[in-house]
Amino acid sequence: MGSWRPGSLPGASMRARLPAPLLLLLASLWRGASGASELRYPPSKIAVIGAGIGGTSAAYFLRQTFGKDVQIDVFEKGTVGGRLATINVEGKDYEAGGSIIHPLNLHMKHFIKELGLSVPENRHGLLGIYNGDEFVFEESSWYIINILKLLWHYGFSPLRMNMWVEDILDKFMRIYRYQSHDYSFSSMEGLFHALGGNDFIQMLNRTLDETLQKAGFSQKFIYEMVTPIMRVNYGQGVNINGFVGAVSMTGADSGLWSVKGGNKLVCSGLLYASKAQLISGTVISIEERTRPQRTGGTVKLYEVSYNSASGPATDMYDIVLIATPLNHKMSNITFQNFNPPLAQFSDRYHQMVATFVHGRINASFFGYKDPSHFHLANIFTIENPNLFIYSIGVVSPVQNTHDDMKQPMGPAVWKVFSKESLTKEQMNLLFSSYDSVKEKKWLAYPHYHLPNTCPPIILHDRIYYLNGIEWAASAMEMSAVAAKNAALLSYHRWYGNMNMIDQEDLYEKLKTEL
Ligand SMILES: Cc1cc2nc3c(=O)[nH]c(=O)nc-3n(C[C@H](O)[C@H](O)[C@H](O)COP(=O)(O)OP(=O)(O)OC[C@H]3O[C@@H](n4cnc5c(N)ncnc54)[C@H](O)[C@@H]3O)c2cc1C
Ligand SMILES: *[C@@H]1O[C@H](CO)[C@@H](O)[C@H](O)[C@H]1NC(C)=O
Ligand SMILES: *[C@@H]1O[C@H](CO)[C@@H](O)[C@H](O)[C@H]1NC(C)=O
Ligand SMILES: *[C@@H]1O[C@H](CO)[C@@H](O)[C@H](O)[C@H]1NC(C)=O
Repeated sequence: MGSWRPGSLPGASMRARLPAPLLLLLASLWRGASGASELRYPPSKIAVIGAGIGGTSAAYFLRQTFGKDVQIDVFEKGTVGGRLATINVEGKDYEAGGSIIHPLNLHMKHFIKELGLSVPENRHGLLGIYNGDEFVFEESSWYIINILKLLWHYGFSPLRMNMWVEDILDKFMRIYRYQSHDYSFSSMEGLFHALGGNDFIQMLNRTLDETLQKAGFSQKFIYEMVTPIMRVNYGQGVNINGFVGAVSMTGADSGLWSVKGGNKLVCSGLLYASKAQLISGTVISIEERTRPQRTGGTVKLYEVSYNSASGPATDMYDIVLIATPLNHKMSNITFQNFNPPLAQFSDRYHQMVATFVHGRINASFFGYKDPSHFHLANIFTIENPNLFIYSIGVVSPVQNTHDDMKQPMGPAVWKVFSKESLTKEQMNLLFSSYDSVKEKKWLAYPHYHLPNTCPPIILHDRIYYLNGIEWAASAMEMSAVAAKNAALLSYHRWYGNMNMIDQEDLYEKLKTEL
């Protein structure tokens, strides 16, 4: 990996300009001020729980931040990748969980570059939006016709939507600046405030519907164009918070990509690059213990109890990062002798079923009298109680070679998103014929509702929780952002660098620094 250098640590650029003795004096001053008067030794062991994109990127960033000597153990009860997983249909693999990545997701972009992974050719099939009776919008292969159609139906709303999303993305991207200067945040609210002030925090507590109405978008546009995108990305409507709504809208941008061979390769790659040890086991509980030190005195450690193939075991850690949603259905970790305020977030994950079908779509189900006129490769839907799917679309395998190009009317692999498993009757309506069917049921992302509070990042003195960020928005890049933040936060809190945590006016501060 080799990108870690002592000089890349906090404030290095500023320090270089000061004479050394002054530096030492300053250092002792802020150490005294922050109350961490004793010289801290480096932590010897750090545990990361969960080997999804959150946990594996955390291992990677912990290595960068803490250096080469610390031992990093990553616990995983299932498979590396977590919600990034592929499913095999007729000998080829398809993304079954998190699949698309935005071109401005800079952490993800950095990972694939660093890991030497590649991106398959981008292909774009035509999209239709179906309301249960008819298509309210059908994309044409002629760009200009699409523009005219959109203008005719929605005026300038689509264009304004682009600008609205871009403005939010612009502010969100400030995080990369802050993180490259090693700044961290101790709460989600603090992080969001640093990105876009009170407006940003407010977006977390207002529905997308209300946010867009306030911004002047028409009801028709929200209902016909925005809702279907929320449904395909989050299985929910426009009553989700405005920020996750904006993240979801970026999923309709151009230039979206995925990783050749499967997005989960990023996770195994990061694990390898971090030189962390993977422990296959289910973490059951975490308890703080006081242990005598060889040098005299005592030290506080966390005892992590887990079950593995070779039976129950425990291990001691200085720092613990939790990179899995904390609720009984998904991770079921108990904390002994302390009780982080998480109860309200239990069991609130939204079920999403992904069904992969090799077959021919039934165009007449979607109102086509003559199936030979059907050219759509993606159908999104509007909220309608009669509709039992969120979306259906042709997918390409993750290996993606040229001969995988398919005509929608020929047999193809379709991915269907629905709330519940599809029944035989429903399958027979959607497809005129099919041979193989594979299903993957996910507790996919939070069930968003207002008022929205984000779970804490700091659960105990040296226990950090990454997945609270999903309550602002669940996406691969969000997990990576939370991972880098937790790595930096745990580092600064360990060494008492309080000036690197929750700084006000960072945006202004960093603007003048370069
Ligand atoms: C169907 C679907 C489609 C999606 N589409 C997209 C998309 O297109 N783009 C996008 O950016 N995002 C998408 N997402 C969201 C994205 O996949 C997630 O936000 C992201 O993968 C979460 O990663 P994570 O590491 O935080 O959590 P996870 O991937 O859930 O990782 C947590 C890991 O912890 C393990 N674990 C849990 N409990 C324990 C325990 N007690 N002991 C040990 N290990 C434990 C789990 O087995 C799991 O591997 C989608 C998600 C789904 C489900
Ligand atoms: C969660 O763990 C506790 C104790 O470890 C156990 O008693 C309980 O049955 C588990 N719950 C679920 C839903 O797995
Ligand atoms: C296709 O859809 C039509 C209209 O909903 C339905 O009557 C028919 O049974 C479906 N199945 C096949 C195989 O055509
Ligand atoms: C949203 O509002 C609730 C109650 O009005 C408040 O407790 C909560 O902190 C707010 N959430 C955010 C993210 O600001």
